[in-house]
Amino acid sequence: MNEERPDIIDVDEWVREGSRSPIQTMAAYREHWARAEADPDGYWLAQAKQRVQWRKQPSYGLEGNFSSVRDSPIAWFGDGELNVTESCLDRHLETRADKTAILWEGDEPGDTRSLSYRELHEAVCRCANALRELGLEKGERAIIYMGMVPEAAIAMLACARLGAVHSVVFGGFSAEALRDRVRDCGASLIITQDVGKRGSKNIPLKQTTNAALEGEHGVRKVLVFQRDPSVEVEMKAGRDLWWHEAVDKASPSCEAVCCAAEDPLFILYTSGSTGRPKGLVHTCGGYLTWTAYTHAVTFDLREDDVYACVADVGWITGHSYIVYGPLCNGATSLMFESIPTYPEVDRYWDMVERHKISVFYTAPTAIRVLAAHGEGPVRKHDLSSLRVLGTVGEPIDPAAWRWYHEVVGQGRCAVVDTWWQTETGGHCITPIAPATPAKPGSATLPVPGIMPMMVDAEGAPQIGPAEGRLCIVYPWPGMARTVWGDHGRYVATYFDTFKSMYFTGDGARRDSDGYYWITGRVDDVLNISGHRMGTAEFESALIAIDEIAEAAVVGYPHPVKGQGVHAYAVLQPDAGDDLDAIGKHAHAAVREAIGAHARIDRLQFVPGLPKTRSGKCMRRILRKIAEGEPERLGDVSTLADPSVVEVIVEGAKPFTSR
Ligand code: PRX
Repeated sequence: MNEERPDIIDVDEWVREGSRSPIQTMAAYREHWARAEADPDGYWLAQAKQRVQWRKQPSYGLEGNFSSVRDSPIAWFGDGELNVTESCLDRHLETRADKTAILWEGDEPGDTRSLSYRELHEAVCRCANALRELGLEKGERAIIYMGMVPEAAIAMLACARLGAVHSVVFGGFSAEALRDRVRDCGASLIITQDVGKRGSKNIPLKQTTNAALEGEHGVRKVLVFQRDPSVEVEMKAGRDLWWHEAVDKASPSCEAVCCAAEDPLFILYTSGSTGRPKGLVHTCGGYLTWTAYTHAVTFDLREDDVYACVADVGWITGHSYIVYGPLCNGATSLMFESIPTYPEVDRYWDMVERHKISVFYTAPTAIRVLAAHGEGPVRKHDLSSLRVLGTVGEPIDPAAWRWYHEVVGQGRCAVVDTWWQTETGGHCITPIAPATPAKPGSATLPVPGIMPMMVDAEGAPQIGPAEGRLCIVYPWPGMARTVWGDHGRYVATYFDTFKSMYFTGDGARRDSDGYYWITGRVDDVLNISGHRMGTAEFESALIAIDEIAEAAVVGYPHPVKGQGVHAYAVLQPDAGDDLDAIGKHAHAAVREAIGAHARIDRLQFVPGLPKTRSGKCMRRILRKIAEGEPERLGDVSTLADPSVVEVIVEGAKPFTSR
């Protein structure tokens, strides 16, 4: 204990006293924040050494800065060496071998599996041995295209055990999207399963993999986990192997490959405002430090917690807060295969009661869907085990926040609205459960070490209460280091907009208490039910069909999904007038190019797009129309043909007047 400041628990004492978080009060938060700002190297080195198991401990923190990121990527703990699976598995064998590491709840309620740290360690070793047998080597890429089964986490960790780089592709993505990712990262191996299960439906993962690999020659092997033996799938001789044949017979011990702190751990594709999705690269040492720290501190993790993040491992939330952060912290991490409304709308609360979940982490969309069903389904269950409730992925409106706090949390649980991104690796602006006074709808204050900056459109810093664009001015260990195969794109996307700052792409407001309120993307990235998609991806799918000449896609506020997709399409002169058929074709094209989770909510055929005389589409105008605010279009006199706007406004009325 610090004699003068009893509220401050430092990292050494954190270990001695068996608690996971040194930040229990606002005073401790401020002290940690000040310490991380004054001496980031010292602060993060101490965290890295305490929370991560190293083969060779690092002797310094940061190399590089945001001004020189073009020529020398950011690096943390550069001389450290480790294998992340030793932090996530091996070291727990001494003290937590029989503790549940992964608690799995399948699609059908009560269909559960539980893997202790010992069992998970063995399973990962077996899988790593099988992958090695299939020729997967350090630095090679493997795509994981699976549903929410423990084997998905096992596959991720098995790649990491070998120093191979995994790239998990969300199971909702189409064959085309999967093929793009396979090609972009040059994957030599895919791990998939026969079918995924979601709400009693079969997701044809193997079939989609087969379609994606047609004519592709880079992928040597496909390892297939069998989820449902009653389903037949096509296996290609010489390329495809069953998990239960290759993995189950492999040895349960496997020496971990030693990696440098800055070796890539995984690539995760995410959508930007332009072009194809980019593969963000996270590295071993900094990412693990960041996810372990934030997982412990934000949620105030305790040894006996049953921690449940109901995200999918296909997104960054699943990577950081189902697999790496929780396992590094020796937590019991729940994996959920189904959806919140199957078989009934009380599924989450039924799980909370059965598993005695203490920390529950979900997305605002799910909360809005469930809140619409009222309090009844929640009240049916004993939720007294809950202590902390988290949200992530999109702004949470105060009404949904209050419902979560009062109805689910019964007014006694902390609600943590965690703001972060695929790029940031883990939480950046968030309440710290035991410490930060909440304000419904605000992500509150920066994590120690995160130095946010609000700027105006020209990049001028805004001091005090302000509204503007959200940037971060100093590197943190968990940030993505590059875009796979295209460092120039990484620099152009994040560091060219505002000099020497990381630009998040989000707008925000800072109030007089210094609290941040995220207002949403200021670029052309959509956030549909917490799924991130680029308008450019929709547009290129639309113009790829014969009938459509031009397309522009914008988001609009949607009461349940957060944002809906409004597509404006200009037909080819010879497209014909069967608009229903063209519409069906357009929807199918989007599903094929992106996946079933990408849906256009409103498709509007227009005679032309509002363009300037130099041919630039004025998306701002289209956004205002989709938002139902045609009276706030601003100046349209610079348009080549202002009359087109009136026609578009008229055509949008059936949508926006609802
Ligand atoms: O706009 C922000 C929104 O989600 C974006 C990041 O999306 P993705 O990389 O898919 O990661 C989602 C999971 C971390 C951000 O740019 N976002 C995320 N969390 C919040 C949020 N917006 C408001 N409040 C949040 N808590």
